[in-house]
Amino acid sequence: MIVASVVGARPQFVKAAVVSRALAAAGLDERGIHTGQHYDANMSQVFFDELAIPRPAVQLDCGGGNHAEQTAKMLTELDRALRSLRPDRVLVYGDTNSTLAAALAATKRHLPVAHVEAGLRSFNRQMPEEINRVLTDHASDLLFPPTESAAAQLRREGIAEDAIVAVGDVMRDATRLFADLSTDDPFEPTRRHPRLALVTIHRAENVDDPERLRAIAAGLRGLAERLDVVLPVHPRTRKALDTLSADESSLGAVQTIEPLGYLDMLRTVRGADLVVTDSGGLQKEAAFLGTACLTLRTETEWTELVSLGWNRLHDPRQAATVAAAADEWLDAFAPQPLPDALFGDGHASEKVAAALRDRRVATG
Ligand code: UD1
Repeated sequence: MIVASVVGARPQFVKAAVVSRALAAAGLDERGIHTGQHYDANMSQVFFDELAIPRPAVQLDCGGGNHAEQTAKMLTELDRALRSLRPDRVLVYGDTNSTLAAALAATKRHLPVAHVEAGLRSFNRQMPEEINRVLTDHASDLLFPPTESAAAQLRREGIAEDAIVAVGDVMRDATRLFADLSTDDPFEPTRRHPRLALVTIHRAENVDDPERLRAIAAGLRGLAERLDVVLPVHPRTRKALDTLSADESSLGAVQTIEPLGYLDMLRTVRGADLVVTDSGGLQKEAAFLGTACLTLRTETEWTELVSLGWNRLHDPRQAATVAAAADEWLDAFAPQPLPDALFGDGHASEKVAAALRDRRVATG
């Protein structure tokens, strides 16, 4: 059975790393397709190298452009790739433009689609990711929600019960597998204060809005007066900061660095006292590694982490006050243990592979 798995952006490489291993162990013939959405070496190749992800069978070049241009190019090129690979099934991850383009390209060719990380919702239709995930879920015939609440959401949206296979979260597998590996030359933050915050900001709604970005920069300047602050700068954020004046975009004592590879990222999260982020995945990685998280968004897909006291939301329009919010949050931080069953048992990827293999038997 040939499974074409489509990746393109950084969070997908991490998920594919663990699922690829499981597909190979289950005897499935995986052919990777990389859309090229992320193309810088430190946004893409480093993950393939460090996490030993098999080299993609097909490498496309669909990075850049606005959402429509990027997605349209992917759709055309993925169609061509699927025509030549002739897979039995297409596997997609998460909620990026690569995910949606792959789901659409596959269904137009009448190929069944399996979606890892199905059923997540922020209920904010302004986010490109929300549209991507809703449409991908409804184009898929095999859906792998990472949590029970994601599975329940799919049922509420009328997805057939036999299409939903609750396997747990493949990112839990990734943290379990990779947290103890080290890089040859690990990143070591410079320390001046007793406490360290790791910050990542890249969401379009935060960085593409100059007013919000100014508030975020001001907030981070303030934060860095109280804590050591490390900010690996995403290319979108770098470009957006460059459009502000020098004063507005100044980050004061913040240590700005290039994007980190996954292994250095996990080490830095574990060593930090606080993660400040608008990423989805990092909210979970912080909890898995025992670190407090302050999320610069007004909603989150991972509501369980808020209820359990691992994560707190801070409105990005109020980002200028993030230093005070961080202090308050660190003082209050007393999370409940993560229930074992919440994100699965760390073996979700094996269950994804087994479901793909068994589904083939079931459908003949
Ligand atoms: C994408 C995903 C987002 C995910 C994020 C992880 C969508 C809609 N968004 O956002 O859900 O959380 O990836 O990082 O798919 N760029 C480079 N070098 C690169 C990659 C991008 O310079 O290696 C530039 C692009 O040309 C573009 C900007 O950064 O100007 C943003 O990249 P893009 O892929 O459009 O979206 P992300 O913001 O990375």
